[in-house]
Amino acid sequence: MNGASGNYGMGLPIQASDAAPHIDLGLRVIHFAMFAIFILWSIFFVYLLLKYRKRAGVAAQREHMGLFWSLLPDAIVLGFEILLIFFYAIPGWTRFKMDAPKPEDSTQIEIVAQQFNWNIRYPGPDGKFGRTDPKLIDFANPLGIDPTDPASKDDYVSVNQLHLPVGKPVLIRLSSMDVIHSFFIPEFRVKQDAVPGMRVPVWFTPTREGQYEITCAQLCGVGHAIMRGDVSVHTPEDFQKWLAEASAPPAEARAAAPIEQW
Ligand code: CUA
Repeated sequence: MNGASGNYGMGLPIQASDAAPHIDLGLRVIHFAMFAIFILWSIFFVYLLLKYRKRAGVAAQREHMGLFWSLLPDAIVLGFEILLIFFYAIPGWTRFKMDAPKPEDSTQIEIVAQQFNWNIRYPGPDGKFGRTDPKLIDFANPLGIDPTDPASKDDYVSVNQLHLPVGKPVLIRLSSMDVIHSFFIPEFRVKQDAVPGMRVPVWFTPTREGQYEITCAQLCGVGHAIMRGDVSVHTPEDFQKWLAEASAPPAEARAAAPIEQW
């Protein structure tokens, strides 16, 4: 197995991608704000309970504190939420959902979820994915890769073993061949549904070498709980070495060889 279980403690998992500090900032700011609001409202409620408690000889009375003081707390909360949307949510959404890195500058990977595995395909040293065709899908070729396409000769497919170089953007094309799954790497703060019939781009930059875990975050059947994979983040040199070794043998030999498994 791996050391991934050591990545979790009482707080958030360690931060291992460029998305993690941004996501964690939002979690911390929102939790801090909710805690502050909870304390302030609690003090206010206790004050009202004491001030307007039932006392012998004192009739109920109405008091209005004025529109300004009534609306001030709501205005502060509204202002805070507007700031969050414009200075946190929109920049984050743009960075992680709109501004995809260029494919030629990225480690390109195709991931096809399947009950209950992650099929992970690398384009090999030529940087090109070979053609696929749903008609070619069978047990030994779950992605339907066309072996007659020259670009597919050095494509490498692993099951549940994701290898990445540190410090370079990763661009994943994510899909599913059966039901909706969800691709989740907690240490990267990356989570995206894998939807049949859609190819969803996912990107992030790993910032820390080590062993992490892919887990499926969408209930997808009886094997949902065991639908997991290993993530290894290497130095760029070690990644190139691994990729060269993995994609070296000819396609025929690889088809006959056992698939790398966890
Ligand atoms: Cu796949 Cu849950």
